[in-house]
Order: sequence, then structure tokens, then C-alpha cells
Amino acid sequence: MAYRVPFVDPCEHYRRLKTEIDLAITDTLAKGDLVLRKQLSDFEQHLADFVGVKYAVGVNSGYHALYFSLLAAGVGAGDEVITVGHTFAATVSAIVHTGAAPVLVDVRKDYNIDPEEFQRAITSRTKAVIPVHLNGRLCEMDRIMSIAEKHGIHVIEDAAQALAASFKGQQAGSFGLAGCFSFYPFKSLGGLGDGGAVTTNDPKVARLATLLRFNGEDRQTGEFHYHGYTALLDNVQAAVLDVKLRHLRGWIEHRRQIARLYDNGLRVLPQLTLPNYANPDYYDSYQNYVIRTERRDALRQHLKDAGIETLVHWGKPMWEHAGLRLGNPNLPETESVCREVISVPMSAETTIQQVEITVEVIRDFFASHQLDALSESLVRSTA
Ligand SMILES: Cc1ncc(COP(=O)(O)O)c(C=O)c1O
Repeated sequence: MAYRVPFVDPCEHYRRLKTEIDLAITDTLAKGDLVLRKQLSDFEQHLADFVGVKYAVGVNSGYHALYFSLLAAGVGAGDEVITVGHTFAATVSAIVHTGAAPVLVDVRKDYNIDPEEFQRAITSRTKAVIPVHLNGRLCEMDRIMSIAEKHGIHVIEDAAQALAASFKGQQAGSFGLAGCFSFYPFKSLGGLGDGGAVTTNDPKVARLATLLRFNGEDRQTGEFHYHGYTALLDNVQAAVLDVKLRHLRGWIEHRRQIARLYDNGLRVLPQLTLPNYANPDYYDSYQNYVIRTERRDALRQHLKDAGIETLVHWGKPMWEHAGLRLGNPNLPETESVCREVISVPMSAETTIQQVEITVEVIRDFFASHQLDALSESLVRSTA
């Protein structure tokens, strides 16, 4: 189905950057620079500078960034790793694949880990915590870092949705032992396919990720130090990501402008909860603009009928996917979030006019709902 307001618009994204992207690709191909070349090391340097850390190591996905970071933290069988139940499956799968047990805790009203729940879940087996900065908003990192430090727990940030977001002036991916990014095509910095990176100030973490991504081999000496993985960030991808990184600040400002338009247009609706947290400690990058209502499914259908594409992250908690065998951690806020949230169109290409249309259609939905409720109560009172 062709939407008049798509959730994201990859064709328009490419059209605007065509000259720069085509040049980056053809230049890389013409030089025969396919694996572990300058384009990759340049991008890694620029990403590290952007995040404000010493090292960035390109890998083939956000998943592998998480997995390698957990291995670097020494996580393995017999350990527990605390994270949220409201995240993408990859966060939890990375823990499971180390042999450790994921311990899922509840989120707060901003959809991010509740530091008090994190503290309560700590046991003698807890080795690490993965705060997930969902939707482009950071977790309360000062509180999380101080709890983790007190208990000797490693912090691995899942910053897959939060490149360029910050808390008290510090960038996502620069707080913990490692930060993990995804360049999946629809992320704020999206590649041509899968991609990711580990960011860190710790040379040992950077070295381990560098070896593990290339089957454990030290490229300088030819020595294989570990049984590793085939998990490189490809050179052509890195060249394109490097081009896009130069645009990222501008794109984030555009996303923030869209968020303000949504805030202003929708705050009159008491039935909706908006991500309008108005706290100067946070600089949100709005990977998603998430609204929350008990009438989520009806609103989503109404938007679809009006040609507006939306997404639901995620329709049911991870532990309700029986194949993941996560038991039932019983997290009430996560359960209601899964029933009630909907993400509306938000990207660097989304236009002001498209936002205005979306706002109008959402307001129509609640206005007609109010009329329905009014006429129902009139019928009841006259019966
Ligand atoms: C919160 C979160 N964590 C982890 C990932 C995994 O990233 P990737 O798809 O690059 O493996 C994603 C990507 O969708 C994500 O949104």
C-alpha cells in the first residue's frame, strides 16, 4: 500500500543524498577498497569523535556490538545481566548467546529502565546491566552509573536508537564500558543494510571487538587469538555512513522540530500521552515519536485508513514470544506500554505538511470518538 504519509521514505532519503552517496560508493569500488580499508578507519574515527570516546569499532550489526561488548565484560555462563523487557529481541538474545541469564526489569513512563528496579534486581550473580536508550532518549545515566559502580557491575549501553542523544551534556554510548550502535537502514544514521559499532574508552574492549569481528585474527601479526566471528562493517557501508554522519546533526534538529510540532498539535488531547518531558537534562534525538493511548489499535486503523503509516514497537512483551523461553517476569508497566504505544511518522525526510496532516487525522479520531461517547450517553439517559 502506498501511504500519503509514510513512516519513513528511503527513496526520498537517497534522492537528496544521491550525488554524495554515489560518489562515495564509486570511489571506494574504483580503489578496490572492500575490506578493512581507510574508509572504515576514517568512519570509526569520526564516530568516536562524535560520541566523545577514544575508540569506535565497526561491526556488522547492533546485535554483534552488544554480543562482543558483553564478552568484553567477561559475561558468560552462570552470570546474570539485567535489562528491560521493553526492547528489541537482539538486546536479550545477545545476553542469552553468552550463556548468561537475562533478568528483565520494568520501565518508567519514559519507556526506559527504572533505576530502582535495576537496583532491586541485583544479586551476587549480576555481572552487567544493559540500559536501553529507547526512541532516542537516554536512560537516567547518572543514577544507573552510580548504582552499577557501587555493586561492581559493568554498564553496556544499548544505544541502537540513540546516536546523538545526550544526558547532562554527555553523549549516548560514552557512559559505560561500551556503547552499542545499530546502523540498520531505518535508524537515524542508517546504512545500506545491517551495520553497527562498539564505542568505548577502554583499549581492551576495542581490541577484543576488533579481533572478534575478524575471526579472532590480529591483522598485523596474522595470529588468531580467539575463535571469532565473521562480523565486519563492510568498507563500502563505512564510506556511505561517513557521508551520512556529516548530515546527522542537521537531521536530528529536523526530527526535534517535528517533535515540537507534534507536541503543539496534540497536547490538547487529554486521551493521549506524549513524549514531551520538558527536562533540560535530556537532549532527545527522536528515533521515534511515540504516543500512548488506550485506544491504540483503533487509532492505528484510523490513521491507516487516512493513508498514514505507523509502527508499533512492540505489540507484545518479548517474554510472550514462547520461542524465546524467557519465563514471565511480570512487568506491569511494560505490559501496558506494549498495548498502548504507537510510533507516528518521523524521519529526516518527513515534511512539516506531513506532520500537520498526521496531527489533523489524530485530532479527528478523538473528536469523533468524543461525539460517539456523547451520543451514547444521550441515548442511555433518554432510554
Ligand atoms: C533497541 C535496539 N537494540 C538492538 C538493536 C539491534 O540492532 P541490529 O538490528 O543492527 O542488530 C536494535 C535494532 O533494531 C534496537 O532498536
